[in-house]
Amino acid sequence: MIISTSFYILSLAFLLFIIVCGFSIIFSALSFAPWVPSRSRDLKRIFKLADLKPGEIFYDLGCGDGKVALYAAKNYKVKAIGLEISLPFYLICKLRQALSGRAKIEFKLKNLYKENLALADAVYFFSIPHALNEKFCLKLKQELKPGAKIISYAFKLPDWQPKTTDRPSKKDLPVYLYEM
Ligand SMILES: C[S@@+](CC[C@H](N)C(=O)[O-])C[C@H]1O[C@@H](n2cnc3c(N)ncnc32)[C@H](O)[C@@H]1O
Repeated sequence: MIISTSFYILSLAFLLFIIVCGFSIIFSALSFAPWVPSRSRDLKRIFKLADLKPGEIFYDLGCGDGKVALYAAKNYKVKAIGLEISLPFYLICKLRQALSGRAKIEFKLKNLYKENLALADAVYFFSIPHALNEKFCLKLKQELKPGAKIISYAFKLPDWQPKTTDRPSKKDLPVYLYEM
């Protein structure tokens, strides 16, 4: 009897977890972008443009599996902050962080629109054109400090002139660098 009640409670908890994960994935896709990782082979290009200095604060807005933030913390000695709204991806980030043993990285289960970016030296994102809208651009304009770098993977910010565009060939996805 005790075993079947515990099994029932555990199954219910698991089902609830799956439902919450499902909803958070759907919500994240509608909010900023569905999960599609930046290509690993493009990380060098991305961070060449970002030109990070030790001690700087780097954000990945919608950090997915945490790959980009982990790369920043590992290779550039920056404080990397990854914001992720989707529970399963956040849990993956925390697991990867624990396995990597990196202290200078923080993953937050948070809507990127709820984070103030005033301390950021560089922000990175991989979103879809539809989400790179007026609301998002206004947030960047209002919160980022002068000189802060903005790196957008694959898609341009509408009406903003990139300082540099990196696209070695037509086969490659472009990386855009903007500066406040
Ligand atoms: C295209 S993926 C990019 C992942 C990662 N930045 C990379 O380049 O590999 C976009 C990520 O943003 C997350 N996301 C969507 N809306 C968000 C929001 N409002 N706040 C935080 N994260 C969000 C999604 O869950 C997804 O993991």
